[in-house]
Amino acid sequence: MRYKLTSNGLKNGSASLPTPATRVANGETPPNWIPCAEQPAYARRKLKIICIGAGYSGLTLAYKIDHELKLSDFVELKIYEKNPQVGGTWFENTYPGVACDIPAHAYTFLFEPNPNWSHFYAPGPEIEEYIQRTTRKWNLDKDIQFNTHVTETVWNDETGKWKVEVDQGGTIMHDEADILVNAAGFLNKTSWPDIEGLSSFKGKLLHTSIWDNDYDWSSKRVAVIGNGASGIQCVAAMQPKVAQLVNFVRNPTWVSVNFCAEKTQNGGNFRYTEEEKAHFAEDTEAHFKYRRDVNAFFYGMYRDHPMQLGLTQACRQQMEERMKGISDPEILSKMLSHEFRPGCRRLTPGDGYLEAFSNVNATLTFDPIERITEQGIQTTMGDEQQFDVIVCATGFDTSFIPSWKMIGRNGATLEERWKGNPEAFFAVQVDTMPNYFIFNGPNCPISHGSVLTQISWTCDYILRWAKKISSEDIKSIDVKREAMEDYNVYCQEFLKRTVWSDECRSWYKNGKSSGHVTGVYPGSVLHFKDCLENIGGEHFHIDYRSKNRFRFLGNGESARDQHGAGDLAWYMDDMKVSKPRL
Ligand SMILES: Cc1cc2nc3c(=O)[nH]c(=O)nc-3n(C[C@H](O)[C@H](O)[C@H](O)COP(=O)(O)OP(=O)(O)OC[C@H]3O[C@@H](n4cnc5c(N)ncnc54)[C@H](O)[C@@H]3O)c2cc1C
Ligand SMILES: NC(=O)c1ccc[n+]([C@@H]2O[C@H](COP(=O)([O-])OP(=O)(O)OC[C@H]3O[C@@H](n4cnc5c(N)ncnc54)[C@H](OP(=O)(O)O)[C@@H]3O)[C@@H](O)[C@H]2O)c1
Repeated sequence: MRYKLTSNGLKNGSASLPTPATRVANGETPPNWIPCAEQPAYARRKLKIICIGAGYSGLTLAYKIDHELKLSDFVELKIYEKNPQVGGTWFENTYPGVACDIPAHAYTFLFEPNPNWSHFYAPGPEIEEYIQRTTRKWNLDKDIQFNTHVTETVWNDETGKWKVEVDQGGTIMHDEADILVNAAGFLNKTSWPDIEGLSSFKGKLLHTSIWDNDYDWSSKRVAVIGNGASGIQCVAAMQPKVAQLVNFVRNPTWVSVNFCAEKTQNGGNFRYTEEEKAHFAEDTEAHFKYRRDVNAFFYGMYRDHPMQLGLTQACRQQMEERMKGISDPEILSKMLSHEFRPGCRRLTPGDGYLEAFSNVNATLTFDPIERITEQGIQTTMGDEQQFDVIVCATGFDTSFIPSWKMIGRNGATLEERWKGNPEAFFAVQVDTMPNYFIFNGPNCPISHGSVLTQISWTCDYILRWAKKISSEDIKSIDVKREAMEDYNVYCQEFLKRTVWSDECRSWYKNGKSSGHVTGVYPGSVLHFKDCLENIGGEHFHIDYRSKNRFRFLGNGESARDQHGAGDLAWYMDDMKVSKPRL
């Protein structure tokens, strides 16, 4: 039979062209015909998820799959971790003074409260130990391959899978995944400073993120380059034990009041008593309330919000107070000459940092470094200062570009996509990279309270997609470019309302002083939660595994039908129709 189409879809004459459905009813097989799949609707196919990284993010994923959401019937998880242990940030960063700077009780896996934190802000080794203990307790390392470096991930449009290459101690191996999760950390690529002569230094060269704990730096002459959070913590910790310490900085920074300072004793860190720990352990409700109370932060970053104005005033007051012992008028005036508000660079509370410069063995200098010599540091002011140790507290590569070779749809790479500025979709996806999810991608809420809370929500979002991909016969999802662009326009417009868009060089702007803010989320953390819970499929290109998107409707049965033998009115229990109506 032949049909002639007209512009309105009717064939010449009065009867309409049969739809594909009518053709099926008439025994034909139009192009989107498929036989009914012999399984109930929404039956889940097995999926393999490969996750890169076993820090807080990768471990939360493992916990959710095995314990909280119990998805292991259809999800096979494999985590590749380059280190010999879990912990990520807390395994790698072991410099003197390393500690969390948000309350430890908020910086805790949501599923594993810890009544035993020693301090309000816990030291790094204790956090590492807590992560390891939690891993053992919940068997979270059962799917981890340690000492395994992911070197390449390539998307295959034919199979709808990621091909993953890993290097395990020189042996190259390959694997394949339906879903690829990047839990490789946003602060995991060490950045050495681009200073002439760095490699010619004959003393000990250290970087805060790859510290050499076998080296004894006490009583040495030490230079610390940088005044970010790492620099501030290690200056405060090293100064009392060294012969001489010079902190080379390029810009003033706000040494801020502590996060949740009002919950501390006199604004500073403190040790919990054994009674307090016992109380947290025995009274779980009181402990929960305490964890809740120390878990909020955002409006200090909202320009001209009363909390932001209060924060600025409190920081200035505290800095003036703490600098009273410093006699050098140049340091005093420069340290308080900020042209940006606190938080523009990530807030850096630093008990003991400013106070360190009141001591005769420590000084801070704004003299620009010209080059590093065999013996020390030469500044543009002329003289060479000699040091035994140079500590580069110079941070991380925060371009968000993966450290491995990653090739997405049609040969796309993030190196190319993000060579200007990294842009993502709600920090978790990016177009041209199907079935790819990122923990803490560009513009993520990492300055908004506990990172672990939003890591948990991001995990839920990823696993919701995994369920959909698995149960709706989906081959791939890829966020639409226009959705990405609209979302990122919103991001940059909103971020103008925050201190993050002030003029200051910061990793929140990928090391630049102004323009595109790449590091932080455009809204509150609750805003992020609302969005992750409601973002819909309309923003995605979805490819299916067959030529009919509804193959997953299967044999016309729900899983509960059991071909007539199931509980066919189970929904009445949910409707509570047995209870009298009011
Ligand atoms: C010194 C320091 C202090 C911090 N303090 C705080 C704080 O007080 N509060 C806060 O909220 N945040 C803090 N942060 C941020 C911290 O990074 C996050 O809170 C959190 O730990 C990130 O966890 P993650 O699992 O996402 O990433 P990470 O902990 O960075 O873990 C990433 C993992 O991926 C692995 N990996 C990376 N690339 C590969 C590869 N190619 N192949 C295989 N494995 C790979 C790494 O080895 C690592 O184990 C701090 C960061 C630093 C550096
Ligand atoms: N919880 C905590 O207490 C804690 C501790 C450490 C780290 N962190 C996290 O890790 C992030 C990174 O902190 P970070 O301190 O490691 O890095 P950072 O904030 O990026 O600071 C790097 C410092 O190095 C300086 N620097 C970089 N290159 C330089 C060069 N060529 N010459 C001279 N100085 C140079 C920078 O100077 P300019 O400012 O002039 O660019 C800056 O002061 C933090 O923002 C935070 O999120 C948290």
